[in-house]
Amino acid sequence: MAADLDALRARYLADLAAASTPDSVEAVRVAALGKSGTVTALLKSLGGLAADERLRLAPAYQALREELAGAIEAKKAALEAAALEARLAAERMDMSLPVLPEPTGSIHPIARVMDELAEIFADLGFAVAEGPEIEDDWHNFTALNIPPEHPARAMHDTFYLAGAPEGRVLRTHTSPVQIRTMTGGTPPIRIIAPGRVYRSDSDATHTPMFHQVEGLVIDRDTHMGHLKWTLETFVQAFFGVDDVVLRLRPSFFPFTEPSVEVDVGCSWEGGRLAIGGSASWLEILGAGMVHPKVISNCGLDPTEWQGFAFGCGIDRLAMLKYGMTDLRAFFDADLRWLRHYGFRALDVPTLSGGVSA
Ligand code: DAH
Repeated sequence: MAADLDALRARYLADLAAASTPDSVEAVRVAALGKSGTVTALLKSLGGLAADERLRLAPAYQALREELAGAIEAKKAALEAAALEARLAAERMDMSLPVLPEPTGSIHPIARVMDELAEIFADLGFAVAEGPEIEDDWHNFTALNIPPEHPARAMHDTFYLAGAPEGRVLRTHTSPVQIRTMTGGTPPIRIIAPGRVYRSDSDATHTPMFHQVEGLVIDRDTHMGHLKWTLETFVQAFFGVDDVVLRLRPSFFPFTEPSVEVDVGCSWEGGRLAIGGSASWLEILGAGMVHPKVISNCGLDPTEWQGFAFGCGIDRLAMLKYGMTDLRAFFDADLRWLRHYGFRALDVPTLSGGVSA
């Protein structure tokens, strides 16, 4: 009998050692310890034996059952551990890869100010308009009531384009976008036109390329009061100051009548500029009521349509708001300057979030 047990043990342990899947381990369990397994049958047979026989054999049978049950559990656990190991190896992830690369680079202060302008004026119902940087003489000058012999042309230090069709210039201001908007659409018109302009001029406050924003409103009853309110509202929002005082000084532009230059009240506290109050004045833009000749040059009837326009240097706005002193640094592409004055790529100005940084 004892020899039988040894043979059984050896057979099942060998089967277990050979088993490589949970199913084959289960097959060994069923064969040995299942309802009609061999070891189960041995244990059942104890009931039919004489008491002394039973006492003699029972411990050995039970020991065999325990041993096999233990070996089967151990084999199952080993197979499960190996399967988990294989899965972990297959599903391995390289956690050293950067998850979200930090954006490098930054938004240039001029682009930032243009975004701020678009946001502020959109809230007032203005669309953003564009025009070409290579303009023809008519849009840049003549239609704006600056005829060929007009002295205002000399003030513009115009770049004329050699080799281009007659009369092509790099636009000297954004005002030609007024002409393109009026000839290309029908009033009422409410637009701003930010963009690059060019003049042959260079020192600490002038670069041959710089930026302007044009504003144009054409409607039936628009008047200087609307102009002043619009500019005040813009300056308040742009500088984030409620106490804004504007001073309109009579001036001259060929394309507006009357024309004004607009100063904003400010103060200098310990050499630092603060917008607000009226202790001191800074000129920020030119404006006026659109000249009837300009309106009729665009094919509109000036007895029916009128409005205001303004033009403003964007670079200067950026300098006043963000405290740069040398305009030329704007265009030097010096990374240290850009990192210092630039804006984060995802930091988009909104009126609700505040257009003031
Ligand atoms: N175009 C003018 C310039 O570059 C600026 C300007 C002044 C634009 C008055 C306007 C305006 O629209 O009404 O100097």
